[in-house]
Amino acid sequence: MSATILGIESSCDDTAAAVIEDGFLLSSTIANQHVHRQYGGVVPELASRAHQQNIIPVVDTALAQAGKKAEDLSAVAFTRGPGLIGALLVGSSFAKGLSLALDIPIIDVNHLHAHILALFIHSSGEQKAFPSCPFLCLLVSGGHTQLVIMKNHLEMEIIGQTIDDAAGEAFDKCAKIMNLPYPGGPLIDTWAREGNPGASIFGKPAVKGLDFSCSGLKTSFLYQLRDRLAQDPDFLDNNMKDLCASLQHAIVDILLSKLARAAAETGITEIALAGGVSANSGLRASLLKLGRKHQWRVFIPEVQYATDNAAMIAVTGYYKYMKRQFASRSITPVARFDQL
Ligand code: KG4
Ligand code: ZN
Repeated sequence: MSATILGIESSCDDTAAAVIEDGFLLSSTIANQHVHRQYGGVVPELASRAHQQNIIPVVDTALAQAGKKAEDLSAVAFTRGPGLIGALLVGSSFAKGLSLALDIPIIDVNHLHAHILALFIHSSGEQKAFPSCPFLCLLVSGGHTQLVIMKNHLEMEIIGQTIDDAAGEAFDKCAKIMNLPYPGGPLIDTWAREGNPGASIFGKPAVKGLDFSCSGLKTSFLYQLRDRLAQDPDFLDNNMKDLCASLQHAIVDILLSKLARAAAETGITEIALAGGVSANSGLRASLLKLGRKHQWRVFIPEVQYATDNAAMIAVTGYYKYMKRQFASRSITPVARFDQL
């Protein structure tokens, strides 16, 4: 019997829905919330309200594009956390209501686990290579930076993580210092393409083991820019490309040096990237280069599935469905990863 899973994502500022049948993606829709731009970051209250407005049209569109009716669904998967509680409540409540109405199970999904399983999203007939387990994944998003060993599709072991800012936060906070709008990561990526990565040098963090630190880089960036602006008020305007290229180079270096260390320590040569920051063109290119040097097999999600989306929730839901890992309808969302 075929398994048709609806995935719902509402952890932050994107309302998304997707349908996966027997492991193959049928549809993936997303409604981005532009209301936050003027505030320089996501406003939780506004995010919850926008999810309320968007969720029914987004799910309807995902079902229509998949050529399915609600009655065709085998289960509903939803993001349980981590994320903004008010935002998560919208998706989880919707999933519960739908499961009750259709008398089908609900499946709770860890958003970070889903970012990693985005590597397995594929359509029928698509030729795609997948990492084999165990594989090592560098997971870099707006709120998390982790080194994870995936023992199988459903079991993750965290072997390193940031002790302060996440990689996406480092991009976004430095972008804010340069007066770029939120989220600044993609804008830095664009400016960096034509800049000189060696134009500015920032101090490297000294963090033990496989953990990361990005907050020192942000402070170093802030002070260097402040000093340069004191000498030349037009410094920022005239050096945007070089500043972005140097900053991106420093972040990529922090991330990939720990990834290389983790690969050496674990002996794993199946290496993957996941999370919103994996959309970064500099990080993608540098990882591919490093992979060739070390003879790793490297896996990077398609850009559209690197940042938040519901196809990754549906694919994770599918793997959990196959193991009959269902949630109780009294389950509640959680804000933090360590509560999952
Ligand atoms: O995974 P994601 O979409 O949401 C979270 O789960 O946090 O990640 C969002 C983060 C933001 O910090 C954003 O600036 C960053 O990913 N990001 C990028 C790029 N695209 C998204 N950072 C650098 N370069 C990009 N191209
Ligand atoms: Zn995410």
